[in-house]
Amino acid sequence: MRQKIVAGNWKMNKNAEQTEDLINELIQKLPAETESRVIIAPTFVNLASAVDHTEFTPIEVAAQNMHQAEGGAFTGEISADMLKNIGVNTVILGHSERRAYFHETDALLANKVDTALKHEMEIIFCFGEELKDRQNKQHFNVVEYQLKDALFHLPETAWKNIILAYEPVWAIGTGETASPEQAQEMHKFIRETILERYGNDVAENVSILYGGSVKPENAKEIFSQPDVDGGLIGGAALKADNFVAIVQSI
Ligand code: G3P
Repeated sequence: MRQKIVAGNWKMNKNAEQTEDLINELIQKLPAETESRVIIAPTFVNLASAVDHTEFTPIEVAAQNMHQAEGGAFTGEISADMLKNIGVNTVILGHSERRAYFHETDALLANKVDTALKHEMEIIFCFGEELKDRQNKQHFNVVEYQLKDALFHLPETAWKNIILAYEPVWAIGTGETASPEQAQEMHKFIRETILERYGNDVAENVSILYGGSVKPENAKEIFSQPDVDGGLIGGAALKADNFVAIVQSI
């Protein structure tokens, strides 16, 4: 049975006090039982305290990135071992902002994926087309190659640690959400692409999240699509009421 997941990517927001406040509000407002896994991804400096504050709650903590090396002379970077060491077992990789601002390629991301898997981490792998790709009707090709170049070297067994997050770049932070039909069309294509490479077991069990301007007003319709298994939420994750409403939409 595919897992339903709602994950909040906090990006570069919330200092230590604000992180603790938001977590405390989420703990108060989230229902004790949810239909989905609930994951939050604060900034690196607040991960350890987030793990402490969410212990014995249904909230899981993820990192927003990690380096592909085991350690060493990489100023400003964080290793998989450092994340595992503070109890963080899930990491977001390939977010479009890292691809755009830090020039992360699919080849580099394949290395990051390999390192994360070597440390038995779970990966929320982000990918998605830009507006120009969709306007040129290249969005399926772009998505297919992002998957193939970064993930299709993996053995079947690795996919139990992979969560996919389709995030059309033109919908991220813009308020321009993909329609439920657009989301379903691409999610179905993604699942069929995985089916062709790995067979039915992997294709039917991998969770494919949608990300890109998910809000309480549109979450239910998007999440009701047959190949949408939840969401990766940006702006709306920064307010407890909005995030809780989205979690309750699944
Ligand atoms: O990783 C999720 C993020 O990119 C989506 O951002 O603000 O459009 O929900 P937002």
